Amino acid sequence: MPDKGKFPHYMLKEIFDQPKGLRDTIEPRVSLDDAVVRLEDEIRIGVDDLRALRRINIVASGTSRHAGMAGQYMIQELLNIPVDVDYASEFEYRNPLIGPGELTIVITQSGETADTTAAQREAKAKGSKTIAISNVIDSTIAREADGVLYTHAGPEISIASTKAFTAQMAVLYLFALYLGQVRGKFSKEQRRAHIKELLSLPEKVEKTLESSTACEEIGKLYYKFEDFLFVGRAIHYPVAMDGALKLKEVSYIHAEGYPTGETKHGPIAMVDEHLPVVAIATCDKNDFGSVLRYEKNVSNIEAYKKQLGQVIAIATEGDSLLPNIVDQVIFVPQAPELLSPILEIIPLQLIAYYITVKKGLDVDKPRNLVKSVTLE
Ligand code: BG6
Repeated sequence: MPDKGKFPHYMLKEIFDQPKGLRDTIEPRVSLDDAVVRLEDEIRIGVDDLRALRRINIVASGTSRHAGMAGQYMIQELLNIPVDVDYASEFEYRNPLIGPGELTIVITQSGETADTTAAQREAKAKGSKTIAISNVIDSTIAREADGVLYTHAGPEISIASTKAFTAQMAVLYLFALYLGQVRGKFSKEQRRAHIKELLSLPEKVEKTLESSTACEEIGKLYYKFEDFLFVGRAIHYPVAMDGALKLKEVSYIHAEGYPTGETKHGPIAMVDEHLPVVAIATCDKNDFGSVLRYEKNVSNIEAYKKQLGQVIAIATEGDSLLPNIVDQVIFVPQAPELLSPILEIIPLQLIAYYITVKKGLDVDKPRNLVKSVTLE
């Protein structure tokens, strides 16, 4: 069992381990000079099969499924390949229409989750190739997959998954780049630009971790609230989902993750001074679509404020508009929109941690939860 070092809890140590986990997961698999991603020896699926892929399924549980949701946006946006994401516990009941020539990506930190193992076996029985993304070498799910892409986040002890989550999203981006490389989707310059952005993530996460004190202050302001709404649009929706799950699983406070635009179809009725909203409202200025989504997020946030809702925004460094509208802002460095979830989740992990510690709860061992649910 690794020790906590200078940290009071494993969860905080693992949140601060994320730059190293990302470095160890990304760097051995890319060459900036050659502008190539090297996954062929791990994926063990032939180039012809990868070129013939018409659809991808992603199956996982809990936080791992949220990584899969982010991966769906990455793969669809970069490769125009349709991706379905399923709860592992639901997969077998929806009679998944998958078969030979399809790929099922199974995401699991422990590699032992029973629901996810069952889903992988179901996919294989239907003739699908499977790739496991796991943080535990030679775990059951890793052993039973055709190919394995390990996250190298190091042992994750705290029940709430943090460093495995960001490493899983980095692996999904690497996979999308590799698939694009195999399918001749990107020029060498484009591949080099993507690789450069991936390699810059650990340093951007280090910078984001500097907001830890501000997140602790937010924890002190908000630990008595009994309900939270987390909102995010497009690829930021999975981040809102995981921010809500983090808070629920460690502090037992009810929280809901919602697509930002969807809150006007009902949930906004709940927003008042008793229901704080955590809004992910970053903006990649180099991406016109991101700017449009940001503008819509600002008008949603203004609506929450009109209803006296307190708003904590996750914004991009340099944003001078949101600080005048919301109650608290945590800034993250500028990043391409498809990689920004890896930064945005950091303050949400920290806020959940500090709220829980302020409540005097056992943040590493929340009640009724286990690190890996090995029963269906
Ligand atoms: C839950 C854990 O039991 O299982 C979560 O508390 C995790 O943190 C989920 O996301 C899925 O686990 P795994 O190991 O399959 O990613």
